[in-house]
Amino acid sequence: MELNITCIPGDGIGPEIVAQAKKVLSRVCEKNGHTVKYTDILMGGASIDVHGVPLTDEAIAVAKSADAVLMGSIGGDTTTSPWYKLPPEKRPEAGLLGIRKALNLFANLRPAYLYDELSAACPLKEEICGKGFDMLIMRELTGGLYFGERKTYEENGLRTAVDTLIYNENEIRRIAVKAFDIARKRRNKVTSVDKANVLDSSRLWRKVVCEVAEDYPDVTLEHMLVDNCAMQLVKNPGQFDVILTENMFGDILSDEASMVTGSIGMLSSASLNDTKFGLYEPSHGSAPDIAGKDIANPIATILSAAMMLRYTFDLDKEAETIEKAVKQVLKDGYRTGDICSEGCENVGCSRMGDLICERI
Ligand code: IPM
Ligand code: MG
Repeated sequence: MELNITCIPGDGIGPEIVAQAKKVLSRVCEKNGHTVKYTDILMGGASIDVHGVPLTDEAIAVAKSADAVLMGSIGGDTTTSPWYKLPPEKRPEAGLLGIRKALNLFANLRPAYLYDELSAACPLKEEICGKGFDMLIMRELTGGLYFGERKTYEENGLRTAVDTLIYNENEIRRIAVKAFDIARKRRNKVTSVDKANVLDSSRLWRKVVCEVAEDYPDVTLEHMLVDNCAMQLVKNPGQFDVILTENMFGDILSDEASMVTGSIGMLSSASLNDTKFGLYEPSHGSAPDIAGKDIANPIATILSAAMMLRYTFDLDKEAETIEKAVKQVLKDGYRTGDICSEGCENVGCSRMGDLICERI
């Protein structure tokens, strides 16, 4: 098979971690008789520095012509970087939101899984995380507060700002269908998270999710208010299989879910549309404080590449090969600094890439 991949190294640690994911992808492709072609594009701060904008139409066109996009991270230090002196629509994050919208990537899958080998890094008590957990957050990614109308204005000398949380039933239905479909491949449970005791958009969300559920009698549906969900994630994370939620709630809950796994450096993600196309990126940010030091954890990006093999290319066996190599490297006692504990060998970013390659 021929894999045509657009890469966005991006900012901060992005270029270092993407380099490792490419190394691992190339290795697994070579071993299995696939050819892989990479084309880099600029996005975020790297694009601002060259083009003055965080995302160009040309870059979008290159991404669209590929089978999938592999991304590192974008953005810099919001207090010191000159990028944050620009108007909001010209800052790095606008590039990420722009590409999500331009490619219609409405479904964001963020798995949060506790590795046995990393249970020491889990901040929860043994009695809470002892049995482990394995959940997937299905976050709606192109609607809600992120894309509703917004403005800042002055009324009678009073500075005022407004953001709009808007969803239509089609946007809710298509993400709910993705959640139920994937639940069937897991443990057949969907927890739909909303704020239906306050918000109209949540009340519509709940109604439409219930309608979709009628087509999935084999999947258990439960509804949970978002504040309760934030609490349940640290009280009993093992209860969750698929968490289905809107854009902003999903942003917040996925950071929380990642932290209970021990390190945000382990968590992959996939952003999908209605076709096989997808954008794959780690759930974490650009960590400008450790950029260029070869100490970042590349595993989240490497696991995102595995998700790409599975969801875009249907190469499940190759995806598993990568996932097994990651487990093996942890079993063998190698760790980057963020997940290192006593008795383990602390290795840098590129060495971690090499060690995973050796196990493929
Ligand atoms: C994420 C990030 C982005 C988001 C930011 C960088 C715009 O936090 O992917 O979770 O809020 O979606
Ligand atoms: Mg986030």
